[in-house]
Amino acid sequence: MSEISLTKQILGHLQQNLGIWASGEDLGAQLGVTRPAIWKAIQALRLEGYPLEASRNGYRLEPDIPMLQGVIYKTKVGSTMDEIRNLARAGAAEFTVLLAEQQTTGRGRRGKPWQGASASGLYFTILLRPNIALSNLGLLPLLIGACVAKSIELETSIVTQLKWSNDILNDKKQKFAGILLESELEDGVPRFALVGIGINIRRQDFPPEFSAAALEEYVPVHRRNLLQKILSTIQYEYQQFLEQPSHAITLWKKQNNILGQSIQILEPNGTNYIGIAQDLDPSGALIVQTDNGSRTIYAAEVSVRV
Ligand code: BTN
Repeated sequence: MSEISLTKQILGHLQQNLGIWASGEDLGAQLGVTRPAIWKAIQALRLEGYPLEASRNGYRLEPDIPMLQGVIYKTKVGSTMDEIRNLARAGAAEFTVLLAEQQTTGRGRRGKPWQGASASGLYFTILLRPNIALSNLGLLPLLIGACVAKSIELETSIVTQLKWSNDILNDKKQKFAGILLESELEDGVPRFALVGIGINIRRQDFPPEFSAAALEEYVPVHRRNLLQKILSTIQYEYQQFLEQPSHAITLWKKQNNILGQSIQILEPNGTNYIGIAQDLDPSGALIVQTDNGSRTIYAAEVSVRV
């Protein structure tokens, strides 16, 4: 077996059994190699930055998130959205955060699945209780998208592209991170909002249709530091947003790189056309100049044309 595929297999095993010790002997027997070969592969993984612990019990991948105060940590859930929704309904406080190492039924926008292999990314949901008019709720994903893009740039120096409304991409238009907003209303005002954030950190076997990228294809990433940066950025910017909801648009405009560009628009009904992204309206909708005049887009897939 090549050294690379051995490290990959060991990593796969440790990720599936996060926090659980695996002895060199057992790993060797399972993978058909010697204990020194296992030891060598473990050193290679360490050099790659994986938080591996060794003891007389063997090796394990150390979960780095549980040490973060205020974050509810789960190794495996269906979706963090559903887990936290139950807590929200039971009255959990604003800014409760629930993070899972692995999601078996993670979801994205428009009912798409969201892949979340164990210890390969950051998958979490933040509970917010914004005291705002329902009409301003649609601004929240713009705010969060800008916060996540800004935090990734500050923490990793990777230059990201913030697409309307909130996908975070690399320069090849592959997705690093996505945001999902779900909410419940009471008497026509938001009772709570669940902001789900998924960030690809380590490379997984993304299905081709995902067109995804992982941050660690660029630089090693300290997951806990990145999570901390995102949470503190959101806490700060969210307060400004509550005082003045248009702050979401200001922040998004600072972070985006689509305004002024020629874009392709695919509307949910399948209509496909091109135009120049001009501005956002006060509700966060995208104003596009097309050959047939100005159009305001409320929901669509947009991509910058090359
Ligand atoms: C998208 O780009 O379509 C949104 C993806 C959102 C994924 C995150 S991962 C954490 C949270 N739990 C989920 O099931 N989805 C969101």
